[in-house]
Amino acid sequence: VIAHRENRRVLLRDVPAGPLTPDHFTVETAPVPQRAAGEAIVRTRFLGIDAGARAWLQSATYRTRLAAGELMPGTGLAEVIDPGQSGLSAGDLVVCETGWQDYALVPVGLLGLPRYAEPPTHLLSVYGNPGLTAFFGMIRSGQPARGETVVVSAAAGAVGSLAGQLARMRGCRVLGIVGGAGKAQRIVDELGFHGALDYRAGDLRGQLKAAAPDGVHLYFDNVGGEVLETVLLAMAAHGRIVCCGAVSQYDGPAPAHGPRGVPGLLITRRLQMLGFLVSDFDADRAVGVEALETAVRSGELKVPEDIVEGLANAPAALAGVLAGDNFGRRIVKV
Ligand SMILES: NC(=O)c1ccc[n+]([C@@H]2O[C@H](COP(=O)([O-])OP(=O)(O)OC[C@H]3O[C@@H](n4cnc5c(N)ncnc54)[C@H](OP(=O)(O)O)[C@@H]3O)[C@@H](O)[C@H]2O)c1
Repeated sequence: VIAHRENRRVLLRDVPAGPLTPDHFTVETAPVPQRAAGEAIVRTRFLGIDAGARAWLQSATYRTRLAAGELMPGTGLAEVIDPGQSGLSAGDLVVCETGWQDYALVPVGLLGLPRYAEPPTHLLSVYGNPGLTAFFGMIRSGQPARGETVVVSAAAGAVGSLAGQLARMRGCRVLGIVGGAGKAQRIVDELGFHGALDYRAGDLRGQLKAAAPDGVHLYFDNVGGEVLETVLLAMAAHGRIVCCGAVSQYDGPAPAHGPRGVPGLLITRRLQMLGFLVSDFDADRAVGVEALETAVRSGELKVPEDIVEGLANAPAALAGVLAGDNFGRRIVKV
């Protein structure tokens, strides 16, 4: 039974030319959609807020570019309201593309199986895309080995916080790069990073030299731009760089230049740079989730979540992620 007859929908008002603000969005109210054959109706309970969503507004990525007036896309943790022919029951929880709205029509083939976790928000963090990105990016792509020095950027974020801990669990010495002294303290105290560097405090190159005098063996890059340029200078010979994302480049005009010194450094230090998409590992998602569940249950892997209340606050929640005001996975409680 659908208790609410209205569906709030957050639409992109216009494509931002500079930093994203809540004014780039508008909230409309529409009737709850009618289900057609082959569809189910779900009610969004929580939305995962991805830093990468900013890039979807700018150009085609692994998604087509979003246009003004369209519903903001996003992954939701949703309750099945009307299961249609999906074989699920009303009340089941599923993780699916809901977009930023109360009610979504989902093709039954895309609903998957009912999911359970305690707390349920872990389905959007550690057992969702951020956790799997951290797992497949760090473990499969980066292959961290005991004793190596590993650096992770955006280390207090959804992906970075987990990627760094996974490397620590492999016996690496892990340093996180974050913006601000408060986050630097927290990733050490709460997440067990061995050290933290604050790129906003200046002289990141000097901080890296002091913290990793023998060089960085593996760099997990969420940020690109200047931070990547600086870490490249700190790489040890035969070091690896896993390119996960470039959040420093999403929220403004295209940069005038990329990291300087890339060809020279790559050659003289025999570095390897490897990009990946979490979807490359779709066939192994269950393996990833199982490994992450074991790590969480053992108490070794902490899962920071940063929950914002209210669908109408989703735009501000995304702008905040880009400005770095989140600690861990940002989630909107719809
Ligand atoms: N390859 C894949 O398949 C895949 C999948 C999912 C996500 N990703 C990527 O993973 C990265 C993290 O995404 P997320 O959703 O987990 O976001 P997140 O890390 O929770 O949030 C983004 C963080 O980036 C930092 N940041 C923002 N601007 C920065 C700048 N100019 N320089 C340095 N740091 C900056 C901020 O923290 P500070 O306060 O520390 O600056 C902010 O908290 C993104 O690059 C995303 O595109 C890749």
